[in-house]
Amino acid sequence: MKLHWHTPAPSALIFFFTTALLLLRPTESTQPPYSCDSSPPSTSSYPFCKTTLPIYKRVRDLVSRLTLDEKISQLVNSAPPIPRLGIPSYEWWSEALHGVADVGKGIKLYPTINNATSFPQVILTAASFNDHLWYRIGQVIGTEARAVYNAGQATGMTFWAPNINIFRDPRWGRGQETPGEDPTVAGRYAVSYVRGVQGDSFFGGKHKLGAGGRLQASACCKHFTAYDLDSWNNVTRFRFDARVTQQDLADTYHPPFQKCVQEGQASGIMCAYNRVNGVPSCADYNLLTKVARGQWDFHGYITSDCDAVSIIHDMQGYAKKPEDAVAYVLKAGMDVNCGSYLKDHIKSAVEQKKLNVSKIDRALHNLFSVRMRLGLFDGNPLKQPYGTIGPDQVCSKLHQALALEAAQDGIVLLKNSGRLLPLPKAKAISLAVIGPLANASKELLGNYHGPPCKSVTPLKALQDYAKDMISNPGCDSVQCPQASFDEAVGTAKEADYLVLIVGLDQSQEREGHDRLHLELPGKQQQLITSVAKVAKKPVVLVILSGGPIDISFAKLDKKVGSILWAGYPGEAGGIALAKIIFGDHNPGGRLPMAWYTQDYVKMPMTDMRIRPDPKTGYVGRTYRFYTGRKLFDFGYGLSYSNYVYEFASAESQNKLYLNESSISPTAKSSDSGRYQLVQDLGEEFCEKKKLPVRVGVQNHGEMAGKHPVLLFVGEKNPKNGRPMKRLVGFQSVILNAGERAEVEFVLSPCEHLSHPNEEGLMVVEEGSYFLGVGDVEYPLDIIV
Ligand SMILES: *[C@@H]1O[C@H](CO)[C@@H](O)[C@H](O)[C@H]1NC(C)=O
Ligand SMILES: *[C@@H]1O[C@H](CO)[C@@H](O)[C@H](O)[C@H]1NC(C)=O
Ligand SMILES: *[C@@H]1O[C@H](CO)[C@@H](O)[C@H](O)[C@H]1NC(C)=O
Ligand SMILES: *[C@@H]1O[C@H](CO)[C@@H](O)[C@H](O)[C@H]1NC(C)=O
Ligand SMILES: *[C@@H]1O[C@H](CO)[C@@H](O)[C@H](O)[C@H]1NC(C)=O
Repeated sequence: MKLHWHTPAPSALIFFFTTALLLLRPTESTQPPYSCDSSPPSTSSYPFCKTTLPIYKRVRDLVSRLTLDEKISQLVNSAPPIPRLGIPSYEWWSEALHGVADVGKGIKLYPTINNATSFPQVILTAASFNDHLWYRIGQVIGTEARAVYNAGQATGMTFWAPNINIFRDPRWGRGQETPGEDPTVAGRYAVSYVRGVQGDSFFGGKHKLGAGGRLQASACCKHFTAYDLDSWNNVTRFRFDARVTQQDLADTYHPPFQKCVQEGQASGIMCAYNRVNGVPSCADYNLLTKVARGQWDFHGYITSDCDAVSIIHDMQGYAKKPEDAVAYVLKAGMDVNCGSYLKDHIKSAVEQKKLNVSKIDRALHNLFSVRMRLGLFDGNPLKQPYGTIGPDQVCSKLHQALALEAAQDGIVLLKNSGRLLPLPKAKAISLAVIGPLANASKELLGNYHGPPCKSVTPLKALQDYAKDMISNPGCDSVQCPQASFDEAVGTAKEADYLVLIVGLDQSQEREGHDRLHLELPGKQQQLITSVAKVAKKPVVLVILSGGPIDISFAKLDKKVGSILWAGYPGEAGGIALAKIIFGDHNPGGRLPMAWYTQDYVKMPMTDMRIRPDPKTGYVGRTYRFYTGRKLFDFGYGLSYSNYVYEFASAESQNKLYLNESSISPTAKSSDSGRYQLVQDLGEEFCEKKKLPVRVGVQNHGEMAGKHPVLLFVGEKNPKNGRPMKRLVGFQSVILNAGERAEVEFVLSPCEHLSHPNEEGLMVVEEGSYFLGVGDVEYPLDIIV
């Protein structure tokens, strides 16, 4: 989202006011950053200022007062003021991927508030498999965003997060920003984050924010859709045409967005750079208007990714003239352009009759509705709900504790031979810490971050446990071009225990840069094996990365006793690691994407097919379909405890009769089996046929722990493009040593036991399935 950004134009209208007193700076114009204040009184009498009217009427009034030039001016991310109506400037572009960030243009982290709580990069937060945690993170982000606004440091409250594209290929540089490779996880992450940020305090399903609901801050589901390639082998996201099947759209690419819109009630969507089956996402009427607004009942605004309109003409050649490009996107249903292309070319598109003003009016309606829902047309927002959120709430103890909770609940224990971990903390041990990321600070934050509330490197955090500590980076940098590791080897020999901290940073995987291989960069592998060889005991290996790394060598190496994956763990990540290493926290994170081996890269990244194609040797994508070798599976993660599962509802039915549907009693048959269309079964019947599944889980270890229970549905011999298995539910339980609990999941046949046919229609097929939790399986026959 940062590519060739070239509009410096600092807003002329930044005003600073405190929660106590409005302090208009005399040298600037007298327009406060909101409308409909009593000063100037002439404007507050407009109908669009009347808070008693429904928002659509207020917006209609406002839009009817604008000249064509004023209208056009509002269709870009930096929307200028309209002083004659008392309307201030507005900046649509702000970022808050894992904490309020100042990398967009709407948020300034000065003068009063300088820092914001920096949660782990999303891929690690996802590893907690805990949607209540995700929701609370969203709430904190929304609250801190409001505080920044209330402090006069925001010219916009529309945040371009969450990034919910499926992490389809481990090489993707932006996979770190996403909740991983599973559509159910991505969907539930989206719902939790969006509801938290936007201020839906009725989490749990009853309350719907709806079209007119007030927003604490606005979230945006991005990037719609099939966007998960940045720059690979000379293919860039700007030119890439993602060829996707209807089947893959229906159960992989679309579900996170559908959830984000329908259950999350997101007020924004961003269309992607890439084309989907030939059509640029932002110019795709079917995608934006028919699917999102039509089928999913989306009410918010749709923005382009930055400069994604210009590339439709300049790079993709899809539009012959600039006027065609702007006409296409507005007709498709896009409302605002990150960039300036709409401002520059709409007038002539209208003059050339390529575009009706009605499309512009529709866009303005969506845009001003969101600004009104944010409370920016109700007079002084400090006197309204959310107006009392002060700077003291930013980086509060509570918020920082949540950043620590997220980091320690996300970190995944991948190997723990001979129970090397946790290290003894009572005894006076000597510890060596080696690796290019041992003293990481900024690297812990990943991308799209602001200045954090605090910064503690892993080295510093470990030092608080082991007073006798020596360290050595081993390599100058993550690129690790070294030829010799003599110094590190010397350090390794000296200590009782050795922790290695290695992995990736933004030089290896980032926006605009995908990886070409899955191995550790440079000579990092040699560093690990050389120091492990001489260490007194097996070593602890900590991997920092967004995407998976092929560390087969370390999995096999007996001198590597334990492996932890810590993603990019955010401002509290160093402390979380130290707590886990020394047993003050029992790790419970589980991988939100499988870890693939280097063979994976034989598949071109550009092949978007999720399902394997045995005829051509194509092995498919994601744990649901991939038939190649995996290093660690999706959902893998150890703990210092051992959890044992059983299906508690074993006495109940293991056959699901869907042949009793009164709505559509005729089971249709195809060559390969009998099936029912979900739309024929009907909602009522599906509701009636919901299947409760109770899973018993017991902590057989000696330590209390928080443990996410993952429930899968699978098949031994899937046909017709059905997955080998798929996640259908997850829930966290907190169990003391020895404690047992039962977790209940409710499976809906239409949602959890269906899958799309080749046309993308959901069907339930007759057959022998199984429910799976851990290694325990329970048969489930479906009769249609
Ligand atoms: C990369 O793409 C550019 C533009 O399409 C082309 O000019 C160049 O030759 C390509 N380079 C390689 C190595 O394929
Ligand atoms: C503009 O609207 C008129 C009337 O609805 C319609 O006939 C015409 O095709 C539209 N023009 C464009 C460019 O969409
Ligand atoms: C670790 O980094 C900090 C700055 O973040 C620096 O002050 C300190 O000297 C570094 N420690 C070592 C051992 O390099
Ligand atoms: C907080 O923000 C200020 C201003 O950007 C920065 O100088 C400081 O380093 C930040 N604090 C931390 C812990 O990073
Ligand atoms: C449903 O299928 C089962 C098993 O084939 C059969 O015993 C039962 O009679 C069927 N029910 C109906 C209503 O057709």
